Amino acid sequence: MSQKTLKNNCVITGTGLFTPSESINNEELVNAFNQYIDKHADAGLDKSKLYSSEAFIIKASGIENRHVINKSGILNPERMCPELTERSDDQLSIQAEMAVIAAEKALIKADLKPEDIDSVIVACSNLQRPYPAVSIEVQEHLGIQGFAYDMNVACSSATFGVANAIASIQSGQAQRVLVINPEICSGHLDFSDRDCHFIFGDAATALVIESEETAPPNHGFAILDTKLATRFSNNIRNNAGFLNRTSEETQFARDKLFMQNGRKVFKEVCPLAAEHITTQINDHKMTASDIKKLWLHQANLSMNQLIAKKVLGREATEEEAPIILNEYANTSSAGSIIAFHLHQDDCQQGDIGVICSFGAGYSIGSLLVKKR
Ligand SMILES: CC(C)(COP(=O)(O)OP(=O)(O)OC[C@H]1O[C@@H](n2cnc3c(N)ncnc32)[C@H](O)[C@@H]1OP(=O)(O)O)[C@@H](O)C(=O)NCCC(=O)NCCS
Repeated sequence: MSQKTLKNNCVITGTGLFTPSESINNEELVNAFNQYIDKHADAGLDKSKLYSSEAFIIKASGIENRHVINKSGILNPERMCPELTERSDDQLSIQAEMAVIAAEKALIKADLKPEDIDSVIVACSNLQRPYPAVSIEVQEHLGIQGFAYDMNVACSSATFGVANAIASIQSGQAQRVLVINPEICSGHLDFSDRDCHFIFGDAATALVIESEETAPPNHGFAILDTKLATRFSNNIRNNAGFLNRTSEETQFARDKLFMQNGRKVFKEVCPLAAEHITTQINDHKMTASDIKKLWLHQANLSMNQLIAKKVLGREATEEEAPIILNEYANTSSAGSIIAFHLHQDDCQQGDIGVICSFGAGYSIGSLLVKKR
């Protein structure tokens, strides 16, 4: 069931993106991985069968590049993990820093100041600590009154976060909400695992959500509807958590980083996401021909092409279903928002689009939006 049509539309009045300055292309990533194999493969094994390949990565995923917060650690075959100096509790944490940069850009786009905001939601897959909430650190740093909290619905964190922002605004708890998605995916990725070492990148996105009553006229995108769905699946899983230390034998086992059964995810999530979007469109007495843009979660090129085709009933053009994963890889909850942020300027007043995320949980969230 779609959520009820919103009584008073909320509006996305600003979007912001933080892109780390360092990046790794497939050639660099594969070279480092193959050096790791040369050093660590058991004697007697045929190394050529263990190597990663640029051709495979492009064909299987469409990913060409990823931005990361630290390149040297990931490409060091003795390390295969980002290398960051731990900051003191008095310093702004790295995740809050990324979030602040994205938020400041979104505020500029919305023509607002931090004092205009009264709630901050940090919604992402990869929180760097349990508490104090990263969102409260961001709130403090920006000088925002009101309240803040962190939430995690994996790759669907941004769309679920927007639904929460709308609920806060409609219930009168807040007038304007910042939803921020700082994703340090490289922290939870096993760069020595051929099956997934190429999948993720780092980035942060931010959205300003406010009521139509406060939003400037003819500015931003009205959110006509939110539709959220979850279905339990073990096919994408990460068992890192505070109970890990209670079982010494397994506390650093492989399952404490990102794991997936990619084929099953592909097969199961594509029809779910396509049906989810189609139902939402139809619930609003629209058909595929009314949809100008599909800003989809960015995990796999073929997946996006298939979902767009199922929704539109034909191949989507690059303009209709923009792809950013070639440059950013999978940035979890930030992916669909990066696509929205970078590919919205060609929208005309009245154009309808869908921002849709899908991922671990499984979780699917979609926002039906209209250019104002
Ligand atoms: C992960 C994904 C890119 C893998 O693509 P795929 O076509 O399913 O590939 P497979 O995992 O079946 O692997 C095919 C073969 O290539 C091999 N392979 C895997 N990684 C490789 C690499 N980096 N280089 C070379 N070969 C590789 C596999 O071992 C396998 O070999 P086999 O046939 O001898 O067993 C793809 O399944 C996917 O993107 N799925 C959706 C995932 C998703 O959206 N997840 C959400 C995360 S939030």
